Amino acid sequence: MERRVTSPKSLRGVINVPSDKSISHRAAILNAIASGPAVIDGFLPGADCLATVDCLRALGVAITVENIDGAVRLKIDGKGLDGLRESADVLDARNSGTTIRLLAGLLAGRPFLSILTGDESLRTRPMARVTAPLREMGAQVWGRAKGTLAPLAVRGGPLRGIRHRSPVASAQVKSAVLLAALQADSETIFEEPSRSRDHTERMLLAMGADLREVDGGLRIAPLSRDLTPLSLRVPGDFSAAAFWLVAATLHPDAELHLRGVGMNPTRTGLLDVLRAMGADIEIGEERVQGGEPVADLTVRSARLRGMVAEGPLVVRLIDEVPVLAVAAALAEGKTVLRDIAELRVKESDRVGTTAQELRRLGARVEEQADALVIEGVSHLTGAACDSHGDHRLGMALAVAGLLARGETVVSGAEATDVSYPAFWDDIERHSTA
Ligand code: S3P
Repeated sequence: MERRVTSPKSLRGVINVPSDKSISHRAAILNAIASGPAVIDGFLPGADCLATVDCLRALGVAITVENIDGAVRLKIDGKGLDGLRESADVLDARNSGTTIRLLAGLLAGRPFLSILTGDESLRTRPMARVTAPLREMGAQVWGRAKGTLAPLAVRGGPLRGIRHRSPVASAQVKSAVLLAALQADSETIFEEPSRSRDHTERMLLAMGADLREVDGGLRIAPLSRDLTPLSLRVPGDFSAAAFWLVAATLHPDAELHLRGVGMNPTRTGLLDVLRAMGADIEIGEERVQGGEPVADLTVRSARLRGMVAEGPLVVRLIDEVPVLAVAAALAEGKTVLRDIAELRVKESDRVGTTAQELRRLGARVEEQADALVIEGVSHLTGAACDSHGDHRLGMALAVAGLLARGETVVSGAEATDVSYPAFWDDIERHSTA
């Protein structure tokens, strides 16, 4: 599907950003193994999270999905870890790395066979980062290319606790190991090079797991009884708010109010970077929702200067690099985004696809092995570009289209359904021609 975007005269209004994708996945998976019913309000009905729901149902979990005034309510009847049953069919994670990796960890301890697969993109993404620690714990896991690519086959069984140092800062790897560790015979210690998003830890603690931080790592004990169900309202997704933060900052006549945005510090690196570049973003109504910090944000037009982002800061904005590259393309001077090699194994090779597509719109972007070097230009020019089936790239290109002269045509626009089903409607609603 193609979508056409032009720059509106102004960009104004109040946006309720969609619910957090990462938290929606975890709320479904952890409540599926808890002992009793839970209600999740504001579950994200994006394609990725719905893939998780379908997989859990195939594993015997009773889940109802209701639509209440446009918001999705999920009711999950958790029957504990032992309530999971062998699926009669292959589990299809579709485009979702979170689904396949977290479920691989969970199913490594369940005494039955599970086959996990996904779409063409997911079947090229690295799985050794989860299969290696799971095998070390004693799990039987197979996959294509010596266990490094999906489809994966998991024959769950008894697991032992391990000490694991992940070579990558990845919340999917961490969560997979934690889910297996709940089922192990002794405690597990997990370390990562820098702190990835901590939604799993927060939720596990709230559900009664024995988990604590030990110098630089996490220590988790096996469950002595099933998790307590956790009903919650899912906060808005900072990674969805990110598109509006960049669009309103770079548009010459903009003021947007973003409501109920998740402000977990492991996720808000883009806010720090945009502010350091000169953005005008106000944080109000700070509160806690579903065990996570949430706030309302107001963003107004501003002029940006280039900067260097690298190291742990990049881990805190890992999903925001494509849209940050759009901001950098219109900032004054040079921006360097370093230590971003992980982006090469996301839904597309985002280092390459971001550079390639933004150049079509007149951006000056140099691609390096693990960096993007961007020289700001005075304006972008609308052009035909492609999402490469990658939701975040598709939305970043639409934001570029909102800021460019002339018309931008984004093909593969349906990819945005993965995390932001109302994205194109929100663009129309808040643009004044
Ligand atoms: C996610 C973790 C990140 C992120 C992805 C969602 C999660 O992936 O890019 O969009 O929900 O755990 P990695 O764990 O591969 O860094």
